[in-house]
Amino acid sequence: TCATCGCNNNNGNSASSDQVVKDVDWDNLGFAFTPTDYMYVMKCCQGDTFSDGELQRFGNIELSPSAGILNYGQGLFEGLKAYRKQDGSILLFRPEENALRLRSGAERLCMPSPTIEQFLEAVKYTVLANERWIPPAGKGSLYIRPLLIGSGSVLGVAPAPEFTFLVYASPVGNYFKEGLSPINLIVETNMHRASPGGTGGVKTVGNYAAVLKAQTEAKSKGYSDVLYLDSVHNKYVEEVSSCNVFVVKQNKICTPAIKGTILPGITRKSIIDIARGLGFQVEEGAVTVDELLEADEVFCTGTAVVVSPVGSITYLDQRVTYGKGGTGPVAQQLYSALTSLQMGVTGDKMDWIVRL
Ligand code: COI
Repeated sequence: TCATCGCNNNNGNSASSDQVVKDVDWDNLGFAFTPTDYMYVMKCCQGDTFSDGELQRFGNIELSPSAGILNYGQGLFEGLKAYRKQDGSILLFRPEENALRLRSGAERLCMPSPTIEQFLEAVKYTVLANERWIPPAGKGSLYIRPLLIGSGSVLGVAPAPEFTFLVYASPVGNYFKEGLSPINLIVETNMHRASPGGTGGVKTVGNYAAVLKAQTEAKSKGYSDVLYLDSVHNKYVEEVSSCNVFVVKQNKICTPAIKGTILPGITRKSIIDIARGLGFQVEEGAVTVDELLEADEVFCTGTAVVVSPVGSITYLDQRVTYGKGGTGPVAQQLYSALTSLQMGVTGDKMDWIVRL
């Protein structure tokens, strides 16, 4: 391994899970990548449909330096989690929603997409083949990362001639280093993650490259992450680097509406339904930076971040703190409702859970 960062910088073939499950510290998982045993791979040529996917040992993949994904960013990803329930069964949360979102992204990036059934089968095979890496009940989850990439060679700007759908998985715990404690965000006023007509509303890999500079600057100043504003008015709240955002004011919950520049989060959509079911008024619409700063409570949602409370927001030279330093009551209630559903502790009235 390389002395600077510990990476396996050997051009190669040692990305597999040499690490054994018994060495995993289930109580301190965080969101670092842990290689697991298998990945699912399925390929397809342009104009064709996907078929004949298979499980392979997890490891590096071979791509031409002229692959579409490497040169022109023709790639999408998804994220979902498998939880181990107390009784030992394995639960997925709304996986067909990920399959549908991948399809809409594939359409935007001129790629063929696996069918819903193929997507679900690939996810199930990947989870079952890596079962020993699913954390014990209550200790985290197996994060599943489907990728859809232009894997064939191109030189001029064009869709790749071959596409690869790949699913791998890694055990994870909390996304932010703060754990379940509130995070501190800074509003970015110069850089934007998406613009109207762009790809902000689908899960392209490039959307995440676009946030790295602002995120790196924010982290160097001690913030947990960055909150982006719309690129036209620089005034309306959009989302955080890896998650959607909600504001609470006098028992009314608001979140920015999905209009093409915001990622349509599956956790976002689920939290809206759960909150309405609990009797909250929930509004999807424009949320100004002023409304954000005047809120009683702010929290983020996402597959990776689940429901993460926000402790403070810095905008220009103003720092606003929420509550008394702990998790706000609305975020706490929604976190409990969502995670007890995902872990099979409460009944699944919405039919959101797929049991493996
Ligand atoms: C997820 O929540 O699954 C995501 O895709 C966010 C990711 C950038 C960590």
